[in-house]
Amino acid sequence: MHHRYDVLVVGAGGAGLMAALYAAKGNVSVACISKLYPTRSHTGAAQGGIGAALGNVAEDHWEWHMFDTVKGGDYLTDQDAAEVFAKDIIDVVYELEHMGLPFSRTADGKIAQRKFGGHTREFGKAAVERSCYAKDRTGHMILQTLYQQNVKAGTLFFNEFHVTDLLIEDGRCRGVVAYELSTGELHTFHAKAVILAAGGYGRIFKITSNAVTLTGDLMSIYYRKGLPLEDMEFYQFHPTGLAKLGILVTEGIRGEGGILRNESGERFMERYAPTIKDLAPRDIVSRSIITEIREGRGVGRDKDAVNIDLTHLPREVIEGKLAEITDLARTYLGLDPVKDLVPIQPTAHYAMGGIPTDLNGLCLSDGNGGTVEGLYAAGEQACVSLHGANRLGTNSLGDLVVFGRRAGIYAAQYARQVEFADLPDDPQAESRDLFDSLRQGTGKENAAVIRKELQESMMNNVGIFRNGPDMEKQVDILKDLKARYRNVTVGDPSKRYNSELIEAMELGFALDCAEAMTASALNRTESRGAHDREDFTERNDVDWLKHTMAYKDLDKPGNVVIGYKDVALKGFTRAFEPKPRVY
Ligand code: FUM
Repeated sequence: MHHRYDVLVVGAGGAGLMAALYAAKGNVSVACISKLYPTRSHTGAAQGGIGAALGNVAEDHWEWHMFDTVKGGDYLTDQDAAEVFAKDIIDVVYELEHMGLPFSRTADGKIAQRKFGGHTREFGKAAVERSCYAKDRTGHMILQTLYQQNVKAGTLFFNEFHVTDLLIEDGRCRGVVAYELSTGELHTFHAKAVILAAGGYGRIFKITSNAVTLTGDLMSIYYRKGLPLEDMEFYQFHPTGLAKLGILVTEGIRGEGGILRNESGERFMERYAPTIKDLAPRDIVSRSIITEIREGRGVGRDKDAVNIDLTHLPREVIEGKLAEITDLARTYLGLDPVKDLVPIQPTAHYAMGGIPTDLNGLCLSDGNGGTVEGLYAAGEQACVSLHGANRLGTNSLGDLVVFGRRAGIYAAQYARQVEFADLPDDPQAESRDLFDSLRQGTGKENAAVIRKELQESMMNNVGIFRNGPDMEKQVDILKDLKARYRNVTVGDPSKRYNSELIEAMELGFALDCAEAMTASALNRTESRGAHDREDFTERNDVDWLKHTMAYKDLDKPGNVVIGYKDVALKGFTRAFEPKPRVY
């Protein structure tokens, strides 16, 4: 089947919905494809809030927010992106409020704000209340609000369509091919502009807060075309996932006064971050937790967790402002945060890297200013380099709406100016080959077995602490897993909702993301932000103040070619402060 729209958005989380809404406001025809129903997108799992310097609870300024974003990103953040972001997000939060988003309120009726890790006043002096929240269901509320606005604006949705290919020829994107889950049919979507906003790829790790759908599909498709993925080595572990399960326990819990404790009940963050303690940036808190566990001060049967303690907080705060995590702890662990300590462990949470874009969401084809005409990206799957080496909590929801909005505006502007470009002669050819190889092979490999080995090995070898020998081992493991993947055959021949087929395809995408991440991490011989190397413990700005661009070597399977891109600097000169820093 064939469809034609001026602007096509892939993904219906916060970034996709904001992009679709703004494209629709730009007087062009807009369709949005999602492999889920939009309101089930992973943005709905974001709990603690969206950071904006509104100053409703305490004095705040966009410059402080910009600085925190740059410092939190360990100075790899592009400072032009941080400036646009810290200014625009104030306006966008009020816009969301006016759309009807039910933010929690201060006593005098303003949008309520709470503290979150790494958000400070006066350039690092003390924590500041910057996170605007709707209880601990902020992402859920953003999703509902933006979906309603899109319905009103006339965006057409293709739900449960899985994108299998991007149609790029002569440096211009012409559309996508997608597989309809309910029929097993391929569809060609012809578009003047395409916006990619399909989220991250946390499912390459064993313990993750990411939904099962987050397998890096579009990143892989981009990479398979010889286009670069930026800063893939920077992957954030959120310090607090429910033990063994990885389900997010919001940082808002610490913003409200929750305390991390080790086996002896010690508030151990006082040793690692004496000033802001439990509210230090996530990379620091995650490493501190793992250090406690490694040194034998963990809790639980396997001693592989620490506790979060809320028992000193009033019941109304726990059941009111933290209703979601209270429910999760009661449901999944049978524990009541009002009176019990809750075991948590770091959980793979967020990709700082992804498909490189400029400030308007236009995709980059190299590190020297090359672009892919008509192709835009926003949200976690994109890398506008806002988060640098480590994202601050609440800046992901902000990123979605600020850069989703920009991508929608600029994609619509582009679509108004150009004609449709011709499609390739047989646009579905590559997608058919992909499915044929999974359906008609004779190999005996099982996708679930390979997935398990991928997730465990990535956790062990390219997790929170990294070193050269483990990552070299992982390069070989991935080569082996990819070779075995070529022998995966899907047994289920059905056309309707063939989840075995879809999951096998997603595994191929996830393997590519793991390959790009491991090669980029092995190549970067320093420690910065979330990339912590035991064999190169210092941040090295002389050699490494640059973005990584990882390209699939199309001539030599399994080989990754590394290039670089400059960091945009804009005045924050503390780039050369020594590690360790005092938080
Ligand atoms: O902790 C949280 O609520 C997560 C927020 C985020 O990742 O920004």
